[in-house]
Amino acid sequence: MKIANIHLDTVDSTNTYAKEQCQTFDPEALTCIIAEEQTAGRGRFGKGWLSPRGKNLYVTFCFHLPSRALHLNSAGLVLAYSLCSLLLDDGLFPKIKWPNDLQLKGKKVAGILSEASSCNDFVVLFIGIGINVNMESSLLAQIDQPATSLKVETGREWDRKELLEKLQNRFLLHLAQFKKEGFAPFHNPCENLLAYKGQKICCLDGKRRQEGICHSLTQEGQLNLYLPDQQMYTCIAGEIFEVDT
Ligand code: BTN
Repeated sequence: MKIANIHLDTVDSTNTYAKEQCQTFDPEALTCIIAEEQTAGRGRFGKGWLSPRGKNLYVTFCFHLPSRALHLNSAGLVLAYSLCSLLLDDGLFPKIKWPNDLQLKGKKVAGILSEASSCNDFVVLFIGIGINVNMESSLLAQIDQPATSLKVETGREWDRKELLEKLQNRFLLHLAQFKKEGFAPFHNPCENLLAYKGQKICCLDGKRRQEGICHSLTQEGQLNLYLPDQQMYTCIAGEIFEVDT
């Protein structure tokens, strides 16, 4: 699979752009929409994504998968793992806050927004990632949850171009494996990186709130909670929060 890069100076949201333009993309390629800034960056659950110019990475990976594939939701988790594996190579200790946020020392450093649209026998996936690379503490303080950047954590400026190229190459490798073997090869490595493992959390999925111990991942990348009545509950979607004990 080849990579087709589309560099934009400014855009409302790389995910929105990708969804609007995907008919023009090569269906055989991994198309990457990269922007210097977003004027209406989108997060999960209708939230915004702070996207100042020239500081961070805002990228949407767009690719086709056969619609019979059972593991669509886990594609975002694979991208989270690709970034984690790079940060581990750099001596950092990232964690994955299920389903696909990346944390450093308990603070959010990257977020992923996975969207899809169907087209005949294929689904087109739009996996957008925002990475706080060189953002300063003063701007991070504007985010509505504890957030950090690679610069704040390491005390040095990061080369965004180099990080992007490494991420693209790593994700390309992982995506090829994912297309062949599904989530199975990523199950153990992702489970080992899970934030809050063994801790009391709650999962909100819009309709219900389920409290339990953050236990493990299913073979498809869903989250297992161990409930007080000793049953296992599988969260398919939603957001998790730490519960004070
Ligand atoms: C989240 O944690 O809520 C997901 C954040 C996803 C942000 C990225 S930045 C690139 C892409 N374009 C968007 O508008 N959102 C995603």
